[in-house]
Amino acid sequence: MNGIQLMIDEHKYIKRMLVVARKYSYKIVQGQPVDYDAFYKIIDFVRNYADRHHHGKEEDFLFNRMIEHQGPAAEKLVKNGMLVEHDLGRLHMQLLEDALQKVKDGDDEAKIDVIANAVSYTDLLNRHIDKEDGVVYKFAENGLDPSIIEEINAQCETFEKDAEEKQVQKKYIALLEELEATL
Ligand SMILES: [Fe+2]
Ligand SMILES: [Fe+2]
Repeated sequence: MNGIQLMIDEHKYIKRMLVVARKYSYKIVQGQPVDYDAFYKIIDFVRNYADRHHHGKEEDFLFNRMIEHQGPAAEKLVKNGMLVEHDLGRLHMQLLEDALQKVKDGDDEAKIDVIANAVSYTDLLNRHIDKEDGVVYKFAENGLDPSIIEEINAQCETFEKDAEEKQVQKKYIALLEELEATL
């Protein structure tokens, strides 16, 4: 298995969910009631597919090796860039969840926090993914020893098989398609 190619393919699913998140935010701007069910599904996808399943592989299999083997430039790129952005994404999801609860509790103004955090997340992740596809992954592919790439590939393969047994990929791609069908 080519682990980096797998991560590039996962970006395509994540970007499709970013489109969904923006569209559901626009529905609120248009005056429609907040669709809690849709937003909770988006949060579920982001936390368990984009973050645990995808960022998990990046952090535990790829970025750690770039820091270890590719010197200070890689360390700066990963620690000050990619890892900070993963954390900021987690914060946006937490604030989105809080804002949804506030709206549920009758705070109409919190709708702007729902929109702000959902849309900020989509902007953050779109730029983050473009940087990984265009710069970070290429930096890793060109700079890591082939034996290290093989280690990454083997770990990705084991991780994917384990996730397949738990039907992670199947579940979240189905959830994405279900939401896209409602747009
Ligand atoms: Fe990332
Ligand atoms: Fe990524």
